[in-house]
Amino acid sequence: MPTVRFVKQDMTIECPVGTNLRQLALDNEVDLYAFPANLINCRGRAMCGTCRVKIDDDRAVSQPTKEEEKKVGWEGPGYRLACKTKVLADIEVITNPRPRNQGWTNHPTYKWMEELPH
Ligand code: FES
Repeated sequence: MPTVRFVKQDMTIECPVGTNLRQLALDNEVDLYAFPANLINCRGRAMCGTCRVKIDDDRAVSQPTKEEEKKVGWEGPGYRLACKTKVLADIEVITNPRPRNQGWTNHPTYKWMEELPH
């Protein structure tokens, strides 16, 4: 069985091949969402993007869906939606991988904001 190591929580969990990463985190009380997304999220429908994680090995998880590519594909390698990711082999996962002062302003659509006077 694959093992999933949640780096920030220093927690390693064994799971069957094909386990949904979001469900694994929730079942084991891993803090997947940053407040207030822990209260308000799309419940695994790939709509809100708040279950974003960073995974160390793309080959050890399922291929990203089209919805997932739209939500996190622009952020770079390893970024996935936990709700659409199935575990296939051993991985390390970083929950809430974005720096605190960034987030949606990182999206290329908002690059013009970097040129505004401070
Ligand atoms: S829970 Fe909303 S995108 Fe995954």
